[in-house]
Amino acid sequence: MAGNALRSTLSRVMGAAQSQVPHVRTFTRGMQTITVIPGDGIGPEISSAVIKIFDAAKAPVQWEERNVTAIKGPGGRWMIPPEAKESMDKSKIGLKGPLKTPIAAGHPSMNLLLRKTFDLYANVRPCVSLEGYKTPYTDVDLVTIRENTEGEYSGIEHVIVDGVVQSIKLITEDASRRIAEYAFEYARNNQRTSVTAVHKANIMRMSDGLFLRKCREVAENFKDVKFTEMYLDTVCLNMVQDPTQFDVLVMPNLYGDILSDLCAGLIGGLGVTPSGNIGANGVAIFESVHGTAPDIAGLDMANPTALLLSAVMMLRHMGLHNYAKRIETACFDTIRDKKVLTKDLGGNSKCSEFTNEICRRVLDLE
Ligand SMILES: NC(=O)c1ccc[n+]([C@@H]2O[C@H](COP(=O)([O-])OP(=O)(O)OC[C@H]3O[C@@H](n4cnc5c(N)ncnc54)[C@H](O)[C@@H]3O)[C@@H](O)[C@H]2O)c1
Repeated sequence: MAGNALRSTLSRVMGAAQSQVPHVRTFTRGMQTITVIPGDGIGPEISSAVIKIFDAAKAPVQWEERNVTAIKGPGGRWMIPPEAKESMDKSKIGLKGPLKTPIAAGHPSMNLLLRKTFDLYANVRPCVSLEGYKTPYTDVDLVTIRENTEGEYSGIEHVIVDGVVQSIKLITEDASRRIAEYAFEYARNNQRTSVTAVHKANIMRMSDGLFLRKCREVAENFKDVKFTEMYLDTVCLNMVQDPTQFDVLVMPNLYGDILSDLCAGLIGGLGVTPSGNIGANGVAIFESVHGTAPDIAGLDMANPTALLLSAVMMLRHMGLHNYAKRIETACFDTIRDKKVLTKDLGGNSKCSEFTNEICRRVLDLE
C-alpha cells in the first residue's frame, strides 16, 4: 500500500517535473482575461475592491469569475469544478481570494487541490517593508521562493507498526532543478542580485544534498547572479537579526512554508504580503495568503492590500509594468499617509473607503 502510494506520487512528481520552466509571459496587446476566484468570507469584498482599483487604473484585463468547491469526479477523485478548470486552462492567469477549509468535509483543502491541478510548483512571496506601517524592521526587501510540490508535503505517510509512523520526504532531481531555475530566472528578470539556497544538507545529506547540488549546478548558468548557500537555522538567526542582508531565497517545501510566514511577519503580517504560485505550462495563480477572516466578513472592515499587491505581482508577471507601478504607488502612498487605513492597519476606515482612496490616487497618478 505504502509502496503503491510512493510509486504513484513519484510518477506524478516526475511527470510534472519534466515540463519546462516557463519564461515570463508578456501580454501587451488587447484585453487579457483573468480567472478570478473571489473565495469565501471576506474574499468577495477584497476581490471587488481589487477589481474597482483595476477599473480606475483602466488596466487592460477582463475578469471571468469562477467559484471553486470540491466535487467528486470519475473514480471518486476530488477535483475542482470543470468550469473553473476550463477558465484557468484558457486564461492561464488566476487571482484568488481566501478559501475556507471545511473541517471534516471529507475533501482535501481547495488550495492544495488547485496546487495539484495546475502543478503550481513555485510559491513566490516578495516581502517589502511598507513605509508608514511600523514594524520592528525597516528596509526589508526580499523574496522567498518555495518548492511547492514535494519534499515533506508529498503526502506519503504510513504506519509501520502500532505506535510507529513514517513520513517520507521526497526530493527529486527534476523538481529541484526546476525550482532553482525559476529562482535564478526570477532574480535576473527582477533586477535582484543574489540567490541563497536554504537547506539542511549537513543532516539530510541525500535529500537536501540533492536539492543543493541542483541549485549549485543551475547557479553555474547564471554567473550574473551571486549564489550563496546557508543552513536553515542560520538563515532564521540572521533573518531576525538583519533581514536586509537577504535578497532571493530558494528552498524546499517545508522550510519555505515556515520561512515565508516568518518573512511576512517582518513587514507586518499576512494582511500586507502578496503571493504568487507559478505553475507548469505558463499557468500562474496570485493570491492573498491570509484566511477568510469570518469574524469580519460582510462588515466592510477587510483590508484588501494583500490581494491588491498579489494582483500587482500578476500585472508584472503579465508584463504590464506601468499599470503595476501606478497601482502599487497609490496603495503604498495611501498607507504612508495614514489618513485612510483599515482597522488592522491601525485606522478607522472601512474597506470601501480605503479602496476609494486608492482609486482616487490611481487617477491622480494618470
Ligand atoms: N490562503 C487561504 O485560502 C487560507 C489561508 C489561511 C486560512 N484559510 C482559512 O480561513 C479560515 C479562517 O482562518 P483563520 O481564522 O485561522 O485565519 P484568518 O487569516 O482568516 O484570520 C486571522 C485574523 O486576522 C484577521 N484578518 C485576516 N485577513 C484580514 C484582512 N484582509 N483584513 C483584516 N483582517 C484580517 C481576521 O479578522 C482574524 O482576526 C479557515 O477556514 C482557514 O482554513 C485560508
